[in-house]
Amino acid sequence: MSDAAARLPIVVLISGTGSNLRSIAERVADGTLAVEIRAVVSDKPDAKGLAWAAGHGIATVALPPRDYPDRAAFDRALADTVAGFAPGLVVLAGFMRILGDEFVDRFAGRLVNIHPSLLPKYRGLHTHRRVLEAGDREHGASVHFVTRELDGGPVVLQARVPVRDSDDESTLAAKVLAEEHVIYPECIGWFATGRLRMQDGAAYLDGRRLDTPVVRAARGTAHD
Ligand code: GAR
Repeated sequence: MSDAAARLPIVVLISGTGSNLRSIAERVADGTLAVEIRAVVSDKPDAKGLAWAAGHGIATVALPPRDYPDRAAFDRALADTVAGFAPGLVVLAGFMRILGDEFVDRFAGRLVNIHPSLLPKYRGLHTHRRVLEAGDREHGASVHFVTRELDGGPVVLQARVPVRDSDDESTLAAKVLAEEHVIYPECIGWFATGRLRMQDGAAYLDGRRLDTPVVRAARGTAHD
């Protein structure tokens, strides 16, 4: 992994804190993830993660949607910006804008997202609140390939966490986020080493079609 040429170039898209970005950068720094973070791109110029990246010598670009006449123009500018860094994989890490079909098609098969729920449950926003309202005893996070269907692409890897009676939205969010920091770098590593790909709308790991995602129980408990 010391050979920079063997590292997969990635671009990370964020809108906020960027803790997933940091967890990826940490795995790169400790030598366990063979990627090169070429750039961090955000729709929010004041995203904390953008300042963090800049402070760590990573190229950053802010593209506020208000600078573009419409969604299509923003999407095209975003796609051109990302493509300018020639990524082998585009990583959505808390990027809170819905990407248009053109963007998704342009990076098809090399576009992944992490979502704070056990997909296909709870696509969209406010997942922790909805889990609590439904009285679910289990929650988690999913890494999936991005397709035109919102939060609907093939799921590769999930982490589960138990929901306790004492949990509220913020404790649940923190537990899920801690698991995200484990499974996202792991999944990106699979892609970077050629183990993971998407074909004909399905995910393949080590040549086997994943009809159901790989599942990790919360750390410290048995895997199932
Ligand atoms: C994460 O929980 C991620 O799963 C979620 O936003 C958070 C970003 O945190 N993403 C979505 O909800 C996408 N629909 P971070 O900025 O600290 O990585």
